[in-house]
Amino acid sequence: MARTRTTKKLAQRIDLNYFKRPTPLKRAKLGLSILLPALALAWIAWLVLAKNTSVYSSGRMAEAHAVLANDCAACHVQKAGVFSQKAEDSACLSCHDGPIHHHVATKQVACAQCHNEHRGRINLLAASNENCSQCHSDLKANGGTLNYANAILSFSDGHPEFAVVRAQGGSKPADPGTIKLNHALHMKLIRRGPTGPLVQLQCGNCHRPAAAPADMTYGDAKYVAASTTYKASDELLPVKQESLPPHDLSSGRELMAPVKFATACASCHLLTFDKHFDEGVPHDKPEVVHAFLVTKFTQYIAAHPGDVRVVRDPSRDLAGKAPQPEVRILTPAQWVAERTADAEQLLWRKTCIQCHVLSVGGASVNAAVPTAPSVLPVVAAANTTVKWMPHAKFDHQAHTGFTCISCHTQALTSTLNTDVMMPGIATCQTCHAPGPDHAESRCFECHTYHDWPKRKEITPTFNLPALKHGGR
Ligand code: HEC
Ligand code: HEC
Ligand code: HEC
Ligand code: HEC
Ligand code: HEC
Ligand code: HEC
Ligand code: HEC
Ligand code: HEC
Ligand code: HEC
Ligand code: HEC
Repeated sequence: MARTRTTKKLAQRIDLNYFKRPTPLKRAKLGLSILLPALALAWIAWLVLAKNTSVYSSGRMAEAHAVLANDCAACHVQKAGVFSQKAEDSACLSCHDGPIHHHVATKQVACAQCHNEHRGRINLLAASNENCSQCHSDLKANGGTLNYANAILSFSDGHPEFAVVRAQGGSKPADPGTIKLNHALHMKLIRRGPTGPLVQLQCGNCHRPAAAPADMTYGDAKYVAASTTYKASDELLPVKQESLPPHDLSSGRELMAPVKFATACASCHLLTFDKHFDEGVPHDKPEVVHAFLVTKFTQYIAAHPGDVRVVRDPSRDLAGKAPQPEVRILTPAQWVAERTADAEQLLWRKTCIQCHVLSVGGASVNAAVPTAPSVLPVVAAANTTVKWMPHAKFDHQAHTGFTCISCHTQALTSTLNTDVMMPGIATCQTCHAPGPDHAESRCFECHTYHDWPKRKEITPTFNLPALKHGGR
């Protein structure tokens, strides 16, 4: 029999109740729609039970505060059972002080404005330019004196040229240091000592970070070992009082140490004083040098009594005839006094004044005019500047990849110790500028904000278990 396929017969095969029957897929869908909300509720319930409040938080905490991620109340103080939307200064101050910037500032700025939170693992110290320019765009209106530039918006907008290289009242700024080093002369090929070979000095032969050991290529161990009657601090100019010292622990590599005669000059510039001796005088105050000379000559004449017979130089007189050599017999005391006076004329008028300003009774010692043998000269204080830019932080260590002369360009050409060889703002701006291809240029990179020496000690109120469980 032939199969008859009518539409009606076909239609009768379809089960009109098919959608009411459960299928595996449908069972899964139903299950999920009940399970997921239940899971979510259970999760929240579990978080609540565990007092984990991060679920309400608007973002991850910065690294320094990561341990507080569950402890909203540490910063959002609870008032009448409700967490404050703002982070309270008082909460921050219960863990660490943030001493006020300059007491003359009139505006109050909340801690949280600069130290923003919930932005992920950001640098909490990265205050924006606007945080600073809210006052520095018009410093006078915000309590400032006229000591500083009035309107600074960013490092590239309104930031003044650095004071050390800024002309003051029409005159060029000068280095107050008195050691007469001629950089240009020493950076060319130069003789090592009166009869030594030609050498090429490097900046690092004389300059080094304060924490690094001195390079001894041109040093003299004897002078390094000797103690001096002048103190290291006598040479240094005091750092300006009103500047804010950096808070971070110093590595001792930020600044260069003051240059020392013993480590940087001694093996080329000998302090020899008399043909009877190879050694040099101590590198110290003239009184010490004088006492040393008297002792040395007294010891010498005791060991060589025959030397009291002195033959004067048979120099030619004006008539062109050689005079008879004049022979004198001196007492040992006279001999010591004469030799000492001669040595001192050489030292004060030739050796020491090559590097120093010497004066007697206020008048400077001069190579042409002999000094009275009875009075000792005074060596001018070195007046070495330790911190050239006291209102900013600078760290040589962070710039070790760059040659010294890329910032201190004049060091190859400067002939006077009074020249200031510090870089100006344009040098810094070649690298410290906005944009991803540049080094950081927001204010916090180079400046200290808080007056850290005025910091108050905090008595801690949080303990570890409390931190873990979200309460005090
Ligand atoms: C270390 C301190 C600190 C802790 C701990 C902290 N916050 Fe904040 N929170 C802040 C700061 C700072 C702001 C910025 C707002 C302001 O100006 O005060 C802020 C802002 C907020 C805001 C407002 C939205 C916003 O981003 O401005 C919410 C919501 C918030 N926090 C929730 C939480 C929750 C929930 C927790 C606990 C899981 C928490 N916070 C823990 C410091 C903290
Ligand atoms: C429960 C204690 C606690 C509270 C509250 C707290 N902090 Fe801190 N904070 C710390 C600890 C711990 C560190 C890490 C150690 C340090 O650098 O002193 C830290 C570090 C910091 C740092 C330095 C970060 C860095 O990268 O060096 C800043 C800035 C800071 N906190 C600001 C704030 C501000 C602003 C508030 C208030 C909104 C606040 N803190 C609230 C404990 C706290
Ligand atoms: C105008 C912006 C600004 C304000 C307001 C501010 N800070 Fe700071 N804070 C900074 C800058 C910039 C630094 C980094 C330079 C420094 O150490 O001074 C810093 C550093 C810190 C540090 C880091 C210390 C470390 O370990 O190096 C702490 C802690 C701190 N501030 C706490 C506070 C507290 C607490 C308040 C509120 C009383 C506050 N700050 C207000 C800008 C600000
Ligand atoms: C609340 C206002 C205010 C804010 C915000 C502020 N400053 Fe100042 N700043 C002052 C005042 C006032 C002086 C002191 C001026 C004076 O003595 O004449 C000053 C002086 C300075 C000085 C020169 C003196 C010194 O400390 O060496 C620097 C640098 C400085 N601020 C940097 C900053 C930086 C960086 C920021 C941002 C992190 C900042 N300031 C934010 C008000 C402010
Ligand atoms: C022979 C030792 C010697 C060498 C080599 C030397 N310096 Fe100096 N430098 C000194 C002495 C001494 C002073 C202090 C006297 C002065 O202010 O000129 C000084 C001072 C400085 C100062 C601070 C004073 C100012 O006026 O700016 C800078 C910067 C400096 N040197 C950079 C350099 C650089 C860069 C080089 C290499 C290109 C270099 N120096 C090579 C001995 C040396
Ligand atoms: C490598 C050897 C060497 C070293 C190291 C050296 N000098 Fe010299 N210095 C010389 C020579 C050579 C002369 C040239 C002597 C001359 O022509 O009278 C000289 C000349 C000078 C002059 C006279 C410059 C002038 O313009 O006439 C001064 C000042 C001076 N040196 C200071 C120093 C000081 C300070 C140091 C250590 C910080 C130092 N020197 C390190 C070799 C050296
Ligand atoms: C080649 C250069 C050079 C010669 C020559 C030199 N000095 Fe110095 N002198 C220095 C340098 C560099 C310093 C800086 C600090 C140090 O070395 O202790 C210094 C520092 C001093 C100081 C300490 C100054 C202060 O600020 O307190 C005295 C004192 C001194 N010298 C005395 C002498 C006497 C005396 C002579 C001659 C016998 C002499 N110096 C020769 C380079 C020289
Ligand atoms: C790349 C480093 C750097 C950056 C970024 C920077 N400064 Fe400076 N700033 C300096 C140096 C260096 C000085 C010179 C310090 C001195 O003379 O003692 C200075 C000087 C200052 C002074 C004293 C000005 C005067 O009249 O002599 C103020 C105020 C100041 N900066 C504020 C700011 C502010 C605000 C910002 C951000 C908008 C900022 N600085 C960004 C390096 C920087
Ligand atoms: C990125 C620029 C830069 C480079 C590179 C650099 N300096 Fe400096 N240097 C400075 C600045 C800025 C100061 C002023 C710092 C201060 O005292 O506030 C300074 C200060 C100095 C001083 C005076 C003492 C002191 O530390 O304050 C000497 C000496 C010096 N530099 C030598 C060197 C030598 C040597 C090198 C190479 C090894 C070098 N500098 C590389 C920027 C630079
Ligand atoms: C050749 C490029 C270059 C020049 C020029 C330069 N810097 Fe930098 N500076 C850097 C780099 C790179 C860093 C490290 C990375 C960063 O912080 O972005 C840095 C870091 C710094 C820091 C932070 C140091 C720290 O503690 O981490 C300060 C402050 C600074 N520079 C100041 C200056 C000043 C002031 C000048 C001008 C005298 C200057 N820089 C010139 C490239 C430069």
